[in-house]
Amino acid sequence: MNKKTLLIHGGKTTDAYTGAVTTPIYQTSTYEQDAIGELRQGYEYSRTANPTRTALETLIADLEHGTNGYAFGSGMAAISAVIMLLDKGDHILINSDVYGGTYRALTKVFTRFGITFDFINTTNIENIESSIKEETKMLFVETPSNPLLQVTDIKAASNVAKKHHILTVVDNTFMTPYYQNPLDLGADIVLHSATKYLGGHSDVVSGLVVTANESLGERIGFIQNSTGGILGPQDSYLLTRGIKTLGLRLEQINRNVKEVVELLKNHDNVVKTIHPLNEDHVNRDVHFEQASGYPGIISFEVADVEKAKEVIKHTKLFTLAESLGAVESLISVPSLMTHASIPAEIRHKEGIADGMIRLSIGIEDTEDLVADLNNALNQI
Ligand SMILES: Cc1ncc(COP(=O)(O)O)c(C=O)c1O
Repeated sequence: MNKKTLLIHGGKTTDAYTGAVTTPIYQTSTYEQDAIGELRQGYEYSRTANPTRTALETLIADLEHGTNGYAFGSGMAAISAVIMLLDKGDHILINSDVYGGTYRALTKVFTRFGITFDFINTTNIENIESSIKEETKMLFVETPSNPLLQVTDIKAASNVAKKHHILTVVDNTFMTPYYQNPLDLGADIVLHSATKYLGGHSDVVSGLVVTANESLGERIGFIQNSTGGILGPQDSYLLTRGIKTLGLRLEQINRNVKEVVELLKNHDNVVKTIHPLNEDHVNRDVHFEQASGYPGIISFEVADVEKAKEVIKHTKLFTLAESLGAVESLISVPSLMTHASIPAEIRHKEGIADGMIRLSIGIEDTEDLVADLNNALNQI
C-alpha cells in the first residue's frame, strides 16, 4: 500500500461488532463476561484494552512498520513507559538538545530511581560509540531535534547500538511515519508526541509507542497496563481521525516550508535560518536519505530578543503559542518560552540565540503565510 492509502486502510479501524466504518467511541470502563473469564471480543477492563484504543494502536503499528502499538495519555507518558524498560543502574545516551520535558523527566524523576544518563552530540556516530559504558542499555534520539533541527543518522546509530546490545529508541514526533520510519532503519522502538502532527488539530494530548518485535511489545504492553498511563477512548478516536489526513496536511506544510525558508534566506533582517533545506545544514544528506520529506519547523535568528518580540507583534497569521505540528501556524521565541529554564550560557553554547524564533508551519495558503511574515520582518 502507498502511504496515503495506508493512513486510511491501515490497522483495524472498522468496528468488528457492528461493521461501523469508523470504530465508535467505546466509552466504557468494563465489559460483561458470559461466564467467568469468558470474554466476548477479548475485552475485560479498559485500562488493559479498549476497542477505540485498539483501533488506533493497530493503525500506528502498521504506519511505523512495527509489530505492536500502544497509546498513552501524552508523549511524556509514552516516553516514561519506554524508560521503564530499564532497571536501576542502567545508563541512557541521549541527544543533548532533546525536548525539555524528556530532559526534565530524566534529570528530576528517573534519576531518583537510579537511572543514569549522558546528554551527547549524536550527530557524530564516533561520539556515540565512545560514550558507551558497560551500563549503557538505551540510545535515545530525536531527529531532527528541536529547535536546532540537528540530524542523527538512525541507521548508523542503531548499528553501533546493536553491536553493544543497546536498545535504540527514536522520538519520531517531528517527521511522523509519513516521512520517516526508524524501525526500517534498525531502531527497536519508535515513539511520538501524537499531540503534534499525528493529531494535527491542537485538540488532543497523546503519545504513541511502536516496537520492532513482539517480545519488546509485550514488555511495553505490560508496563502500559501496570502503570496505567493509557489514552482514553474519546482521544483515541480524535487521534485516529486526525491521522487519516496526515499525508495531505504534511504535503501542504512542506510546500509552505519551502517558500518560507526562501523568504527567510533572502530577507535582510534575518541573521540566520536553520532548516535541512539549507545546503550547509549539518547532516543534510543523511536527513534526505532517511526521510522522504522535511520538518515543518523552521528556526531563524533576528538581531536580538527585542527584534524577535517585534516580529511576533507584527505577524497576524502566526499564533504565539508553544507546541507544534497543527493545522495553524505557530510562532515562539525559544529563549523566552520552551528553553527559558536552560541557563543562558548553556543555551548559547548549544546554538540557541536570544533572537531565535521558531515557526511551526501550518496548512494555510502559502502566499498568505509568506506575505504575513515578510510584512512583519519589514517592520523591525
Ligand atoms: C519531540 C517531542 N517529544 C515529546 C514531547 C512530549 O509530548 P507531550 O507534550 O505530548 O507530552 C514533545 C512535546 O513538545 C516533543 O516536542
